[in-house]
Amino acid sequence: MPAPDRPSRTEPGLALALWSRAHPQWASVGVLLLGWLLVAWGLPPQPAGVGLACQALSGVLLSAWLRLPVWWWAINAGFPAALHGGVALHWPPMVFLSIFLTLTLVYWTTFSTRVPLYASGPAVWDLMARCLPPQPGARVIDLGSGLGGLALHLARQPGSPAVLGLELAPLPWLLSCCRARWRRSGCRFRRQDYRRHDLSSYDLVLAYLSPAAMPALWQQLVSQLKPGACFVSCEFAVPGQAAVALPGSGQAGVPPLYVWRMGRDGVLAAGPGPDLEAVFLKDLPCS
Ligand SMILES: C[S@@+](CC[C@H](N)C(=O)[O-])C[C@H]1O[C@@H](n2cnc3c(N)ncnc32)[C@H](O)[C@@H]1O
Repeated sequence: MPAPDRPSRTEPGLALALWSRAHPQWASVGVLLLGWLLVAWGLPPQPAGVGLACQALSGVLLSAWLRLPVWWWAINAGFPAALHGGVALHWPPMVFLSIFLTLTLVYWTTFSTRVPLYASGPAVWDLMARCLPPQPGARVIDLGSGLGGLALHLARQPGSPAVLGLELAPLPWLLSCCRARWRRSGCRFRRQDYRRHDLSSYDLVLAYLSPAAMPALWQQLVSQLKPGACFVSCEFAVPGQAAVALPGSGQAGVPPLYVWRMGRDGVLAAGPGPDLEAVFLKDLPCS
């Protein structure tokens, strides 16, 4: 009789999987526990400066141990002092609650999507506008439209493209809707997770997300984009996929804009295709 399936010794067990996914949190819990134990064991009270220095040091050591980027070391070192200073201001608890609620409404599910809010600028918008399909009323979607600047800019372009911005976080979404109404723009904003949105009817799909979001988004695009549709990603390429950056991007403070086109053979290939290439090549000094 064949032996029942058992996890092999090389497969990580559940505990190891949980640890490796959340080890920063576990490490923080460990440090907090240690502090509590020291107090419980009767450590004499220390001046506030000593406590703050210890906390800053433990923040830096934890950051180094977890191999966080250097800017996180600074944040973790400065956070206890900022917290102490904030408490010393004796602001009513309502202020902290309001700040917390505002940040929650802005960042919403960033902890799970791993895509925070940061807005692209006019230089990116202009390059994206040149990727608009030539046919009037082309359908365009911005996945994670943030404050709506990019989508509103595209909706203003000649040919009146039908632009939809999808945004998960409530406050940026609300702000985008107000901006669209204020400007009497035809641009629409919907509060929805783009992972639950069918992309098969769009001519141009835009995204400015994060490296963490790209692999799953790629799978979604491969299975949903129609032939001839373009996908443009601001700043982030897709791991393991060839990428071509649009001329004029990736220099002078403008992040690279990577572009792919869905072929008639159902292959999402790097590069803008001949018509878009012509748009960009015509402005190069050598042409
Ligand atoms: C880097 S910002 C880009 C904003 C905008 N596209 C721009 O260019 O200014 C990314 C936005 O995507 C949103 N987001 C992240 N994951 C999302 C998801 N699964 N569905 C919809 N929006 C999402 C975030 O809330 C954030 O506002």
